[in-house]
Amino acid sequence: MTHILVLNGPNLGTLGRRQPEIYGSTTLKDIVESLDQLARSWGWELAAFQSNSEGTLIDLLEEHGSDSHGLIINPGALTHYSLAIRDALAALTIPIVEVHLSNIHAREEFRRHSVTAEVSRGVVTGFGWRSYLLGLEALRGILDGEA
Ligand code: DQA
Repeated sequence: MTHILVLNGPNLGTLGRRQPEIYGSTTLKDIVESLDQLARSWGWELAAFQSNSEGTLIDLLEEHGSDSHGLIINPGALTHYSLAIRDALAALTIPIVEVHLSNIHAREEFRRHSVTAEVSRGVVTGFGWRSYLLGLEALRGILDGEA
């Protein structure tokens, strides 16, 4: 069975009421349910976590990263500066897809750089909750060995 790990960083637990004009009105619970449904339709299993703490996210990567076949991560603001998350990601050998609800390249200057994208297979940014589903589709292609 294919196991997918989904990690969400700081402030993503309040999706739905957090700046809906930027992040949309879909809650994280709804996003995880949609991901879970899609994963199950392929016979895959998904484990999803959210934490506001950098250390907890690193613990989760250490604990589940090597037992999983792929990772979808939205590191939130940690995307832009956390070398600790970047190092934890770099230590994994599974494919990593970074996702963002907003288009980080069309916002403030400080959001345009991602230190975590540099150790990810690819990034999906700007499609709201659909970024996560597109990320899962990307993992499917990678894990199925599509060119
Ligand atoms: C975000 C973009 C980040 O810049 C921001 O700090 C977030 C959310 C996104 O999904 O669009 O918390 O990762």
